[in-house]
Amino acid sequence: MLADQDRIFTNLYGMHDRSLAGAQKRGHWDGTGDLVKKGRDWIIEEMKASGLRGRGGAGFPTGLKWSFMPKESDGRPHYLVVNADESEPGTCKDREIMRHDPHTLIEGCLIASFAMGAHAGYIYIRGEYVREREALQAAIDEAYDAGLLGKNAAGSGWDYDLYLHHGAGAYICGEETALLESLEGRKGMPRLKPPFPANTGLYGAPTTVNNVESIAVVPTILRRGASWFSGFGRPNNAGTKLFAISGHVNTPCVVEEAMSISFEELIETHCGGIRGGWDNLKAVIPGGSSVPLIPGKTMYEDAIMDFDWLREQKSGLGTAAVIVMDNSTDVIKAIWRLSKFYKHESCGQCTPCREGTGWMMRVMDRLVTGDAEPEEIDMLLDVTKQVEGHTICALGDAAAWPIQGLIRHFRDEIEDRIKHKRTGRVSAVAAE
Ligand SMILES: Cc1cc2nc3c(=O)[nH]c(=O)nc-3n(C[C@H](O)[C@H](O)[C@H](O)COP(=O)(O)O)c2cc1C
Ligand code: SF4
Repeated sequence: MLADQDRIFTNLYGMHDRSLAGAQKRGHWDGTGDLVKKGRDWIIEEMKASGLRGRGGAGFPTGLKWSFMPKESDGRPHYLVVNADESEPGTCKDREIMRHDPHTLIEGCLIASFAMGAHAGYIYIRGEYVREREALQAAIDEAYDAGLLGKNAAGSGWDYDLYLHHGAGAYICGEETALLESLEGRKGMPRLKPPFPANTGLYGAPTTVNNVESIAVVPTILRRGASWFSGFGRPNNAGTKLFAISGHVNTPCVVEEAMSISFEELIETHCGGIRGGWDNLKAVIPGGSSVPLIPGKTMYEDAIMDFDWLREQKSGLGTAAVIVMDNSTDVIKAIWRLSKFYKHESCGQCTPCREGTGWMMRVMDRLVTGDAEPEEIDMLLDVTKQVEGHTICALGDAAAWPIQGLIRHFRDEIEDRIKHKRTGRVSAVAAE
């Protein structure tokens, strides 16, 4: 288990004072100006050496991403944009940072922005996060009053303004280019890449978009050193990480743990075990609703919770939102519910996603009741392949992958339901 002295987020559960005074008592905002004075190159090199990979889902190396920002300004301003849209089903980690430990994020914004030559940062927060916005805004106001933001922020010699922008509540606005569109006041529809935000981002200026957790861990990494952070987890999977565990465990929670912890240890140590015991575990979605599920037996016996191991299983760590399903789950219905979500959240601008998400959802509707032909399973799989990789943004992939995982691991269950429907024996769960 991760030792308490190695936790970056020391107020994840809101048990302590979240105000500036409380945050400072817990070691935040300590020597921030001096860290900035070490210079852009030092900060970016430390971030690269720490091995931090983006916590927003794709796992792109954070230090490398920052190095894509132009070294000198060509007259355009530079921006940091923090992605606090957190709308993926099962994902609820960033909200704990924002409502209970907001100063980790604000301090991280100052340091990261300086490293990218940005005098302004925007935090784009999910529309439904009203209390979180209030907590974060109060913390930003406190930081201004204390001289930690604004002119010569935290005595760093760097002028810095931080703005909090409240979204209207759309999952697609978490996609980084849709987020920028929305921030500029337009409909949140993804743009084609390239150009990438580091060249042409917010208001046409060089911009980096990072997840809340990616930014909030920066000050502690720099204070404690890159090698401290990279000491956790397997190579290429460094650091501590927030896991958000929901579903059929005895005590669901958000917890900071070392990357590459085994699934069994994660669940036994922090979640009181699987409801009804390990034999009752049916399947796990290990990284938020976009990644394919993995059967319970594989998760129990082998699973290492990191980017590389989960990728080898044709799934992913994603946002590390771990959705646990026991044997009482109608897994076909669970994945159907996700299909319905993605169909609802598609922005509709590209045909494979607009048409495909609806098509997939309608077939899933019928697989839930067994009202289908067995051949339709392969037809559905084929449609997921036509959507995957053929759209402007990754929402199309996100809609396709859960269905692919279902067919890969639970084809028997789908076939049985179709067979039983034909013989008039629909399972009680499916008939609900
Ligand atoms: C449909 C969709 C929704 C997304 N939602 C979020 C989100 O809520 N929060 C987030 O940090 N990243 C989200 N992302 C990923 C972002 O596009 C982007 O990769 C991320 O913010 C980069 O931050 P990182 O490098 O720190 O991980 C989403 C991507 C897609 C395709
Ligand atoms: S993949 Fe879907 S959500 Fe993304 S741009 Fe295309 S239609 Fe919009």
